Amino acid sequence: MIAKALAVAGAALLLATAPGRAADIAPVVDADFYQNGRHDPAKVALGRMLFFDKVLSSNRNISCATCHHPRHATTDGLALGIGEGGVGLAPKRQVPEGAAVLGRIPRNSPSLANLGAKQFSRLFHDGRVEADPKGPWASGFWTPAREQLPEGLDNALAAQAMFPVTSDAEMAGGRGENEIADATALRRFGGPKGVWALLAARLRNIPEYRVLFQKAYPELRGPADITFVQAANALAAFQATAFRFDDSPFDRYLRTHDAGLLTPAARRGMDLFYGKAGCAACHSGKFQSDQAFHAIAMPQIGPGKGDGTDASYFEATGFPARLEDVGRAPISGRAGDLFRFRTPSLRNVALTGPWGHAGAFASLESVVRHHLDPTASLKAYRLTPGHLPPLSRVAQTVARGSALSEQPVNPARRAGFDRRDGWVQQSAALRARIAAANERPAVPLDDASVADLVAFLEALTDPRARELDHLTPARVPSGLPVAD
Ligand code: HEC
Ligand code: HEC
Repeated sequence: MIAKALAVAGAALLLATAPGRAADIAPVVDADFYQNGRHDPAKVALGRMLFFDKVLSSNRNISCATCHHPRHATTDGLALGIGEGGVGLAPKRQVPEGAAVLGRIPRNSPSLANLGAKQFSRLFHDGRVEADPKGPWASGFWTPAREQLPEGLDNALAAQAMFPVTSDAEMAGGRGENEIADATALRRFGGPKGVWALLAARLRNIPEYRVLFQKAYPELRGPADITFVQAANALAAFQATAFRFDDSPFDRYLRTHDAGLLTPAARRGMDLFYGKAGCAACHSGKFQSDQAFHAIAMPQIGPGKGDGTDASYFEATGFPARLEDVGRAPISGRAGDLFRFRTPSLRNVALTGPWGHAGAFASLESVVRHHLDPTASLKAYRLTPGHLPPLSRVAQTVARGSALSEQPVNPARRAGFDRRDGWVQQSAALRARIAAANERPAVPLDDASVADLVAFLEALTDPRARELDHLTPARVPSGLPVAD
């Protein structure tokens, strides 16, 4: 009896951990999404305007859509983006004459596909926004704002929407530029003089937004009641509605079990993905993500997150910067999480390159090949000229007396600044740290198998994601331009 019970328990464990066959995956349905995927149209309409309106950036020069653009299936099409201060869209995004940026955005701009599904309860490559209703924060979310995050946010997607506006390089600008940028530099997000209150004041001064907020939130007694939490909830409702992509050939297969809906190559690729290539060990479930964190020795290019311990760049150039991106570890506080990043969903992945958390790989085939032998791939990786967009003018924080401000980097030091793009990758010691954390063993596959895997990944594209221009409004309430 005991032996039998143990055997049954063992089988249950196997079932729980086995990646499973594609045919066992239940199709995506409305119930997978917040509010069964039905969001109030008035909130969605407000969220759409906010998503495309540069009024949310302190210098009124960048919107959410700039980095999550309909033309690039909700990404920016760049390995590492150029935030506020830049102009244009990939492949032409650049820093114009007379402007300066603080540097590159350190991570690749991810796709927003299906983030209205409940299972995406942890957002960002390192999961630093996470829903935790039983956790210590009154807001119900772990976030970088900790106790400053207000209550009333609908879900993780809404909590995330509070943050791009508080990032200096993304939307908030450099200190000394305006009061929102200054509040950001002081990490003053909440409260009456915080970033969110200043932005809410901006919105309530625009008559058209007053009308849109009143329609979305009929309980408002007047413009004074408009808050940034309402804006974030509307942004989430828009993203959840507009960026639901569950009608790819693979989705149709999940609904019908008709393998004829996939090309022969995609069918072979699917068998490999859920079989001997071992992809579904991490890319599991309906959206090809276990929503957990793994280290797969992905190459790192660009300025990193500044959370490493290595001082070699400072010693060589004099710039007080640390260039590693160690992923999940600083969030969880666990050394075992070094260089771990959240397993990305693979819906629309063929449209959302470059790939990897720092956009190191320019082709889908090359990022698949990376997985076949991660540490060898890391060692062989070279940053090619032109892979990162040009940064013509950059600024750095300078002290004049007791005041800090952003000043252009002295031309004589510029070459030293630029060395950060390839620093981690060219250092054998830093590469060795990334390699040591790798969890994915080498899984050799022949070229035909790689081509089949790529064909399967292409079958995860919802055809609607190829043509999203209809989402871009002709104009936004602030009257600012919406082209990029
Ligand atoms: C300058 C480019 C830029 C702008 C502007 C920007 N984002 Fe992002 N977004 C990014 C990058 C880069 C990340 C990933 C950052 C990380 O993981 O550390 C990201 C992550 C996200 C995520 C999490 C995705 C996931 O799968 O975890 C969401 C949602 C999102 N952005 C929505 C928005 C919204 C809404 C706005 C406007 C309020 C916005 N973004 C503005 C670049 C940008
Ligand atoms: C050990 C877990 C694990 C396994 C197994 C795995 N992956 Fe991944 N995969 C990840 C993680 C984690 C990332 C993101 C890593 C990063 O950016 O640093 C990723 C990234 C990707 C990307 C790039 C996505 C993007 O948007 O940039 C693709 C494509 C991909 N994997 C496909 C595959 C395929 C195909 C297989 C099987 C050959 C596979 N993966 C096996 C964990 C895994």
